[in-house]
Parts: sequence; C-alpha cells; structure tokens
Amino acid sequence: MKTAITELFNIQYPILLSGMTGVSTPELVAAVSESGGLGILATGNLNNDEIRHAIQHIRKMTKKPFGANVPLILPGSEKKADVLIEEKVPVVNYSLGKGDRLSRAVHSYGGKVIATVVTHKHALAACRDGADALLVTGHEAAAHGGDVTSLVLVPSIVDAVNIPVIAAGGFADGRGLAAAISLGAQGIAMGTRFMNTMESPVHPRTKLASIEKNVHDTIYTHKIDGLPCRAMKSRGTDRLIRDRIPMLRALFTSRAAAKSFGFPWFKMFLGILLAGWTKSIQLARMANAYQPIQNSLALGNVDEGVLLLGQVTGMLHDTPTVSELILRIAAEADKALDQTGQCLRS
Ligand SMILES: Cc1cc2nc3c(=O)[nH]c(=O)nc-3n(C[C@H](O)[C@H](O)[C@H](O)COP(=O)(O)O)c2cc1C
Repeated sequence: MKTAITELFNIQYPILLSGMTGVSTPELVAAVSESGGLGILATGNLNNDEIRHAIQHIRKMTKKPFGANVPLILPGSEKKADVLIEEKVPVVNYSLGKGDRLSRAVHSYGGKVIATVVTHKHALAACRDGADALLVTGHEAAAHGGDVTSLVLVPSIVDAVNIPVIAAGGFADGRGLAAAISLGAQGIAMGTRFMNTMESPVHPRTKLASIEKNVHDTIYTHKIDGLPCRAMKSRGTDRLIRDRIPMLRALFTSRAAAKSFGFPWFKMFLGILLAGWTKSIQLARMANAYQPIQNSLALGNVDEGVLLLGQVTGMLHDTPTVSELILRIAAEADKALDQTGQCLRS
C-alpha cells in the first residue's frame, strides 16, 4: 500500500499504533513496526531513564521506523521530549500542547513530527508549528477524542490543511481504513483495536471486556480525568464522575501519579493548587484517574477501575497477533475499496 503516510515514514502499511499510556510498550511498538505499520511508544507513565531504556529496547527488537508519544500537558513533559530528541526517535508524536520547539529540534536530526489534534484551531496551529502530519482524533476514540465525530472531523480538517492526515477514533478493520482513505486521510491510527492483540501487555480480563462490550458501553465526559474523555461504563468510572471533592482526593492520589510521571510530588501538588480554580480541578481529576486507569489495564480490574475504551469495542471479536491483524486489515481495505469502486461505476 502506498499513501503519503507510508512514504513520509517509510513504512509498508498506513496503519499506526496509537501511543497509549500503559499499553504501547516497547514489545507492542516493535510488533507493529515489524509488521509493516508504525508503532508509537507511550511515555506518559515512564520516567526519563525508563524512556531512554524503552527506546533502546525497541531498537534491539526492530530496525524498522517507530515513534514515541509525549502528552505535553503532563508535568515533566519537556524533559521527556528532550530524551526523545537526544535519542533521535524517528517519529515524535505530541499531543495536548504546543509543539514549535519540539518540531524544530526533531527536524534538526531528520526526524518527523506528528501532532495529535481534535479541533480545527489546533490543526492549524500544529501546521504553523511545523508538524509533518496530523493525527486527527474524532469523538469515537478512547480517551481524549474531540467532540466532533471522525466522519466529519477528518474530511473537514483534510480540506483545511496541506499536510497528510492520519484518522483516529473509530477504526478497527479494513472497512475503516478504506473509509478513512475515502475521506481524504492517508492512514489510520488505532488504540482500542491494538489494545486487544496477543502482544498487548494489558490483562486478559481487560482484553475480554473489550470483546464483550458493545458500541453503547462507553461514556464521554470531562469528569473522568478533567478533559473530555471516553471510557467504559463501570463502577470505577461512575465513582470518578460523581466525585464532589476531587481536590481533596488529589492530595492523596497525586503521590502515585507523580511517582509514575517521574516528577517530584511536592512540585506537582503545588502546580495543581496554583493553576487557577478551573485548571486545578482538571489537574486534580487527572491525578485521581491515574491509578484506576492503570489498575484496569494491568490488573484486569475493569469494573472497579477505569478502562479507557473506544466505541469500536463493539466491533472486536477476537485477540489476533499484531501481524495477523495488520495483514487482515490491509486485505479487507483492498476488498472494500474495490467493491466501492465497482459499486460506484455500475
Ligand atoms: C488505555 C489508553 C491509553 C491512552 N493513552 C494515551 C496517551 O498517553 N497519549 C495519547 O495521545 N493518547 C492516548 N490514548 C488515546 C489513543 O492514543 C487514541 O487516540 C485512541 O485510542 C484512538 O481511538 P480508538 O480507540 O477508537 O482507536 C489512550 C487510549 C487508551 C485506550
């Protein structure tokens, strides 16, 4: 398959693994890249030494191109971005922040930059900041998709920018890839689908939940982690939504979150307190959500925990290997595009 995205990143299939905290580990990244897609490492829950080690580990497992994601909203993200730059990661994907400095630094060693965006405003800003491609995430997505669905958001941003677009949010099979290409995107990124593969590190009960749940079993609200976010409906998710004292709770939960982000707790809690009321509540919710999210991924505690999950959960019926999945999606997309062409010409 050949699109602007396969050309830009020198990969075989226009299929990307989304950088998912707690899911996109070196093993999963290498499996996707080795299978001809682009694996993107998540760095949200790694400290700087762990990020460096993870990158070196990926390089031992594959010689193919790979990427790394850095959510710029998290404390300590600038230092994490510096590690990616020092390690000359081939593709750096930033989300939730401004990427001008990052783009300049990545381009200086010949790397490429993907900006994750959910609005037109941020898409245009990312183009000005020097991104090489946009990862446009619609409403269907797990975690922080936009409030507009992929069916509308993707083509409208394709029309507004002059760099390639990767569609994310709601993609799990070849029909989705064919649809994304028809909408003017040059590839897809998948989170929920890759989370349920053999190489994914998440607990077997979590993978099973993603098969059992249907398209109506998720909820989208800013009360989970402070930003508009999609997760599976569960007791744990409900508990966060109903929480009336997020600031007080964050006094305790921020310790574990700070440790995981590799950031001093005192500095983090002070940052939460001094951010201004609305932002403070948002950061407090983020700290409170951190452990329940990790629990559902690592311990399979899906009912008491909080499982970030996209609407495509209702389209998953199996747990394939990454290589089987990518080959299957490529074949399905080929067939779907053929059938579409025939149907439109007849
Ligand atoms: C468990 C989990 C963790 C995630 N963590 C991150 C993250 O750290 N950074 C990020 O940009 N997106 C993160 N995401 C969102 C995905 O990158 C992606 O946008 C989303 O899964 C795409 O929608 P889909 O699930 O319909 O494929 C996460 C998603 C999941 C399911």
